[in-house]
Amino acid sequence: MHKVLVATDKPFAKIASDQIRQIFHEAGYECVFLEKYTTQQEFIDAAQDAEAVIIRSDKADADVIKNAGKLRIVVRAGAGYDNVDLKAATEHGVVVMNTPGQNSNAVAELAFGMMVYQARKQFNGSSGTELKDKTIGIHAYGNVGKHVARIAKGFGMKVCAFDPFVPSEVMISDGVVPVQSVDELYSSCQYISLHIPANEKTKKSIGHKLLVSMPENAMLVNTARKEVINETELLQVFAERKDFSYVSDIEPDCLAELDAFKGRFYCTPKKMGAQTEEANINAGIAAARQIIAFFEHNDVTFKVN
Ligand code: 3PG
Repeated sequence: MHKVLVATDKPFAKIASDQIRQIFHEAGYECVFLEKYTTQQEFIDAAQDAEAVIIRSDKADADVIKNAGKLRIVVRAGAGYDNVDLKAATEHGVVVMNTPGQNSNAVAELAFGMMVYQARKQFNGSSGTELKDKTIGIHAYGNVGKHVARIAKGFGMKVCAFDPFVPSEVMISDGVVPVQSVDELYSSCQYISLHIPANEKTKKSIGHKLLVSMPENAMLVNTARKEVINETELLQVFAERKDFSYVSDIEPDCLAELDAFKGRFYCTPKKMGAQTEEANINAGIAAARQIIAFFEHNDVTFKVN
C-alpha cells in the first residue's frame, strides 16, 4: 500500500482534505495529514516512511528529502515550487510536480480585494478612488495574470501585460495590450500586479528604478513572492513618494519598517491568495490524482525537475 503524507502548515479547507482522503482511500492508498506543524523536524519525521508527499508553501528541503528513504514523488499543490529543493530531489530520484492553474482564480480575486481596499483608503472613511479607467500592468501573463486581466476588464480598467514567454497575439486576443519591456510596463501603468516566480533571475528585481518610474498614485500589488522585491529600495520609494502604495498577500521581511507607512501599505497576516475552498479542492485533488497517475501509469505530466 502506497503511503502519502499531506504536509500543510497552512491546512486545506476541511472539504478539500475530506475529498483528498476519499480519493486515496478509493485507490487503496494510505493517506496521513500533518497540519499546522511548528518545527521542520516534525515534517522530516512525518515524511520518513512516505512514498509521496503533498505540500503547499511547506519547505521540502534537502533534509526532508534525504531522510525520506522511500520517497518517490513530491507534489506542490499550487503553482510556485521555489520551496522545493529540486537539486536534492533529482539527486535522490524524487519526481517533483506542481498543479499549475488550479488556484489561480483565487489569487487573482484577492489581488482585486486588496486593490479596492487600498484604493478606498483602507476603508478609513475618507474619499478614495475607483479602479475604472485606470491602467493595470500585469507583470507575467501566466495562469494568474490571465485571471487578473479578465477581472480588470470587468472593473473597466485598461489592461497591459509584459511577458517575454507569451506571444503578443495571445494577449491581444484577450483584449490585453502587450508591452515590449518591463520598463515600459512600469512607466505606463498606475497599478502593477506581480506574477513572476522567485528564481535566481527575478530575486530582488523589483526595486527603486522601476517603482519610481510608475505614474502618479502608483500601486504595486504582490501576490507572487516577497523575494522578488528589493525591500531596501521599496522602503526608499515609500519615503520618496507620498503617492506610492503597496499591497501584498505575503508578509515582507521589512514589516516593522513598513509600519511608518501603514496608510499606504497592507498585507494579509498569512499567505492568503490561494486560501479558498475552491482553490484548495482544485489543487488538492489535482495533486492526489497526479500521485495516483504517477504510481499506476508512470505519468509524469507536470514534472518540474
Ligand atoms: C502558489 O504558488 O500556488 C501560491 O503562492 C499559493 O501558495 P499556498 O498554497 O501556500 O497558499
